[in-house]
Amino acid sequence: MARIPDAFIDDLLARTDIVEVIGARVPLKRQGKEYAACCPFHDERSPSFTVSPTKQFYHCFGCGAHGSAISFLMNYDRMEFLDAVEELARSTGMEIPRETQQRNQDGDTQALFNALDAAAGFFRKQLAANAKARAYLDGRGVDDALREQFGIGYAPDGFSALKDALGSDERRLGLLERAGLLSKNDRGHSYDKFRDRVMFPIADRRGRTIAFGGRVLDKSDGPKYLNSPETALFHKGRELYGLWQVRQANQKIARLIVVEGYMDVIALFQHGIAQAVATLGTATTPDHAELLFRNAPDVYFCFDGDAAGRRAATRAMESVLPRMRDGRQAFFLFLPDGEDPDSLVRAEGAAGIDARLREAVPLSRFLFDSLGADVNLGTLDGKARLAERAQPMLAQIPDGAFADLMRQRLTELTGVGARGSAPQTHVPTHRVRRGASMVPAPKRSLVRAAISLLLQRPALALELPDSYRFTALRQPGITLLTELIALVHARPGITTGSLLEHFEEREEAEALQKLAAQSMPGEEAGWRDEFVGAIAQLDRQTLQQRIDELQTRVSEGGFSSLTDQEKAELRDLQQAPGKRI
Ligand code: UTP
Ligand code: MN
Repeated sequence: MARIPDAFIDDLLARTDIVEVIGARVPLKRQGKEYAACCPFHDERSPSFTVSPTKQFYHCFGCGAHGSAISFLMNYDRMEFLDAVEELARSTGMEIPRETQQRNQDGDTQALFNALDAAAGFFRKQLAANAKARAYLDGRGVDDALREQFGIGYAPDGFSALKDALGSDERRLGLLERAGLLSKNDRGHSYDKFRDRVMFPIADRRGRTIAFGGRVLDKSDGPKYLNSPETALFHKGRELYGLWQVRQANQKIARLIVVEGYMDVIALFQHGIAQAVATLGTATTPDHAELLFRNAPDVYFCFDGDAAGRRAATRAMESVLPRMRDGRQAFFLFLPDGEDPDSLVRAEGAAGIDARLREAVPLSRFLFDSLGADVNLGTLDGKARLAERAQPMLAQIPDGAFADLMRQRLTELTGVGARGSAPQTHVPTHRVRRGASMVPAPKRSLVRAAISLLLQRPALALELPDSYRFTALRQPGITLLTELIALVHARPGITTGSLLEHFEEREEAEALQKLAAQSMPGEEAGWRDEFVGAIAQLDRQTLQQRIDELQTRVSEGGFSSLTDQEKAELRDLQQAPGKRI
C-alpha cells in the first residue's frame, strides 16, 4: 500500500481536535488543562484516561493505552490506519494527497482485488449449479445464510473452468496467476489451481477477498485443504479467517476464539458464537496476536489436546506475551482427543462451548504449568530451572499490573525475582506509572528534562541557537534528543501526538510516551528558558568532556602526545570553559 506522506499526517493531526474525536465516542470531563474519562480500553471505576488538547494525544494511566487521534480510531473503532486517516480527512475537509489515492485505486493492486472478487463470484455461481457440492454443504449443516455470509462457492472439476471464464486475455491471465488462482505445469502451461473443491474466500479487513481455501469433497483427492499461495495481497501469517464476519456481526467484540479450521469458524457461527476466527494452517504469529488484541480484549486459543496442540499453544503464548498490556487476557482451551470445535459445538451446542471456555486455562497458569511441567519445584535445581526459563518470557510482557503479578508469581514459586522487578535494576523511565506519586521521582537528568519539555511543546526546538555541540556528548538519551530536535526542525508544526506517532514502532516509544504523559512541574512561561538552559548546560558538559579527554591523554602520554591543533584547542577550552553561551 502506498505511503501517505508524513507531512500530510502531521497536518491532518494538527487540524484535528482529538478532544472532539474522542468526545464524540466517550463522555469526557474537563479537568484542568486536560479531559478525563473512564478508560474505554479497560474496565475501571475511577477515571484514569486523559486527553490532552495541547499535546493532542490520549493516555491511560491504568492500562497504558495511548496515542493520537489516528490510533484512537484504530483502537476504539477498530479501523485500519488508512481508514482512520480517511475518516479524519473527511471530517476536517482535507484531501488525501492524490498520488497515494491513485496508487491505491488504479494500480495493479486494485486489478488484483477485482480479479479475486470476480473469482469469488464465479465460484458462488458454480456452487448454485453443482448439486454434489451443495449436498456436501447440506451434509455439514452449512445453510444458505451461512453460505452467503462466508461467500462460500465451488471450483468445478476440470483444469480450466476458471481460466476459461476469467482469463480471456493475457492481462487477465496474468492477474489470475498473480492472484494465486492458477498453477503451472513443467511446460509452462497454466491451469486452475482449485478443482472440484468447496471454496472458502478469505477476506481482508475491509471485506475484500484476498485468497481462498478449498476443501476436497472426496477424501481421496489430494490434500484435504488447499490454500492460496502467498501473493502481493495475501500473507497468511497476518490474516485471520472469519475476522471480517466477526466484525460485521458484532458491535463490540468482547472476545475472540481462535480455532484451527475454516469449518470450525463456520460451525461456531452457525451455533450463534459469532466470535470465531482461524489461523490459516499456520502457528499464531506476532502479527496475529496484534490483530487479535486490536479487536478484542479477551482472546481464547483452542488447541488439540495432544503434543502437537501443546506445541502450538506454546507458540501462541510466545506471540502474545509482548502484547499483554493491562486489560488484555489470553486463555488456552485444550480439546478432547479427536474433537474439534466443529464437532464439539454440534455435539454440545453453544452452551457446551461456553462452559468449556469458562474453564479455559489463563495465560499465567499455562505459562508456569508448561514451563514447570518437567521440573521438580521441591528442589533448588528445579526452582532455578523454572526461573531461568520464565525470566526471558516475563521480560517480554509490557510494564503493568499483569507483568508485576507474573513476576510476583515467579518469586512465589521459586524464590527468585524476575529480572527487572527489583527496584534497583529498574531504569528510571520504567517507574513512572500509575501510582507514580508514591514512587520517589527519579532524579531528572538534563537530557531527560530536555526531552520532556520538547514532548510537552515540540516548538521549543525551534528556539535553539543555530549551533549547539551537545550532540557529541556521550550520555544516554543524547541521540534521541538530537533526533527529536531534528524532527521538529524538519516538521515545524508537529504536535506531541505526531511526534509520538513517529516513534510508535521503536523501542523508545514506551519511554517517550510516559514522559509525554507527565505534567511538567513549573510554569509554562518558564519552559522556554528551562529548555534553552538545559541545552546550554549540555553544551558546557560537552566542552568539559572534550577537556577531560584531552587532559587524560596529556596525563597518560604527555603534552607532546597531542597534535598542534589539539594543543591549541585545549588551551582555548581551558581559557573559556562555560563562557561560550
Ligand atoms: P483439519 O485437518 O483439522 O481439518 O485441518 P478440519 O478443519 O477439521 O476440516 P474438516 O472439518 O474436515 O473440513 C485444520 C486446518 O488446517 C489447514 C486448514 O486451514 C484446515 O482448516 N489444513 C488442513 C490445510 O491447510 N491443509 C490440509 O490438507 C489440511
Ligand atoms: Mn473438522
